[in-house]
Amino acid sequence: MDNDRLRSVANAIVTREKGVLAADESAPTIRKRFDSVGVESTEENRRRYREILFTTAGIERHIGGVILFDETLRQSTRDGTPFARLLSDRGIIPGIKVDKGARELALYPGEKIAEGLDGLRERLVEYRQLGAEFAKWRAVIEIDGHDMPSPFGIRANAHALARYAALCQELDIVPIVEPEVLMDGAHGIDRCEEVTSGVLQAVFSELDAHRVLFEGMLLKPNMVIAGKRCDRCSSVEQVAEATIRCMTRYVPAAVPGIVFLSGGQSAEDATDHLNAMNRMGPHPWQVSFSYGRALQAPVLAAWKGDESNLESARHALAKRCLLNGLARQGKYARYMEA
Ligand code: 13P
Repeated sequence: MDNDRLRSVANAIVTREKGVLAADESAPTIRKRFDSVGVESTEENRRRYREILFTTAGIERHIGGVILFDETLRQSTRDGTPFARLLSDRGIIPGIKVDKGARELALYPGEKIAEGLDGLRERLVEYRQLGAEFAKWRAVIEIDGHDMPSPFGIRANAHALARYAALCQELDIVPIVEPEVLMDGAHGIDRCEEVTSGVLQAVFSELDAHRVLFEGMLLKPNMVIAGKRCDRCSSVEQVAEATIRCMTRYVPAAVPGIVFLSGGQSAEDATDHLNAMNRMGPHPWQVSFSYGRALQAPVLAAWKGDESNLESARHALAKRCLLNGLARQGKYARYMEA
């Protein structure tokens, strides 16, 4: 394990105004995204779409890393350049999603556990050869009333995240540790803070027990935010304050960066929240983004599978990258969306 290398890759991903583009949708997820804009999810359409993302001019100013799916790491541009090489040549670090998705946690109805630990060491060796320098594992925690998630559900997911992170670091791959407390549900922001706090406590306790180097990892949590079906809306400032309070309490200062997921927020809200958190800084860690939908939804809506929409799709991505780059410095304002 090369601690210096892990530290330097983790820091490079979140340096200055940079964050992460999460383009690691699994086959069922990308199908859902394509369905929403009437595009058939064929291997070639997925390749074409990702080529648009990765060849957009200027994204390297705000994107330090891109998370890829297994299929995408093996794909190339139309003229034969492997995507991982294309990204590295542009100064963007390629990464890979390595969990195999969340399944039902046996004997805990309604709760989920991410699978994919068996054979992970061998898969990581291959991904490293294909050019991945970091990896991501997503654990899914759902809130339902006061009994879900159970303490055991949280512990089981934290344990799996820590085993994954240790395996990554053993092979000099930076782990992005993603415990996602879902926004689905009618819970308020206070309940989200309570659950997120418990999850982060459990995750860092397991990471520590597994001897994970905090300086050589990134955390990808949810923001502390009310559920989508909650009728009490929170202001941008309330979300920023609750999220920073929770992170300050439970995320060690040794972690170089927190890269938030967007989790179903609109692109504008995700940028606004990131901006408000950075305005509260300085913080012990970089406060950044690892957005999937909040970067890509406007791109998909502009593209719709049609080659003649290429430039407007690229424009949509460049715009989101620029605005999130400004939010990294607390310099974004809503009027800039116009
Ligand atoms: P969203 O930003 O759309 O939540 O996606 C991030 C991600 O990588 C989920 O695993």
